Amino acid sequence: MSGSVPLAGVIGWPIAHSRSPRIHGFWLNQLGLPGHYVPLSVRPGDLDEVLRALPKAGFRGVNVTLPHKEEALALADSATDVARAIGAANTLTFTEGRIHADNTDAHGFAANLHDKAPDWTADSGPALVLGAGGAARAILFALLKEGAPRILLANRTASRAQELADEFGDRIAALPWAEISEATKSASTIVNTTSLGMAGQPPLDIELNGDQPKLVTDIVYSPLETPLLEQARRKNMVVVDGLGMLLHQAVPGFTRWFGQPAAVTDELRRVVLA
Ligand code: ATR
Repeated sequence: MSGSVPLAGVIGWPIAHSRSPRIHGFWLNQLGLPGHYVPLSVRPGDLDEVLRALPKAGFRGVNVTLPHKEEALALADSATDVARAIGAANTLTFTEGRIHADNTDAHGFAANLHDKAPDWTADSGPALVLGAGGAARAILFALLKEGAPRILLANRTASRAQELADEFGDRIAALPWAEISEATKSASTIVNTTSLGMAGQPPLDIELNGDQPKLVTDIVYSPLETPLLEQARRKNMVVVDGLGMLLHQAVPGFTRWFGQPAAVTDELRRVVLA
């Protein structure tokens, strides 16, 4: 490595299981670009010091994952409107020693749906969003921007759903968790943002009802076909798995740091899943 080779990475704690090095490594290799993308294991409390030092070591920017996303936004010198609205940053770019924060999760979510379900539009009917954590914030932002006329938001802890509904405006209404199966009757877009259905977690207990065309998607991508998506497939609904959101959210950072646009392809999917 020389000083002129662009560097980027992903900061988290823990970081060993992050797939981001594989995604960016694939693109660097495919495009034949000089550069390295490395996992950076940074303890809570050390983020500020590390972020201030990285530009001096040749880093163009970093992705940020749990538990640092909110603090990364707070530490940045400037931020995009979308990062502020979501309240967290996942993509930082260093320019002349200053830290610029962005959040590309909303973009990744929408780009994945447009890629895998080209006929889908958010304005075709109400959406049902399950969960009220950080991922839900990005997805609410994306659905509102895409034109969802109404969003029903349900969460195990009802107060968190109500807080998000209050914050994100009057197109969102909180829904009791016990009513999620009933709500699928009228929803045309259904999104799981909880960890339910992930390997080692219980499945999401929901029955998908109704005759109108529906798109069902999950942010969980391990397994690729969660019990929710399996049920949707059996019922002939349009199904989009969560891996594409992870892949698409990586594109803007790669382009900024390494100077060339990157594409989400089936080959990339295979490499990341392997
Ligand atoms: P993230 O930022 O990745 O979205 P999070 O803030 O921990 O993570 O949110 C996880 C989501 O999964 C929450 O909506 C959580 O519900 P609570 O707010 O009630 O904790 C949801 N979740 C996790 N385990 C769950 C379970 N067993 N049943 C229902 N919801 C669950």
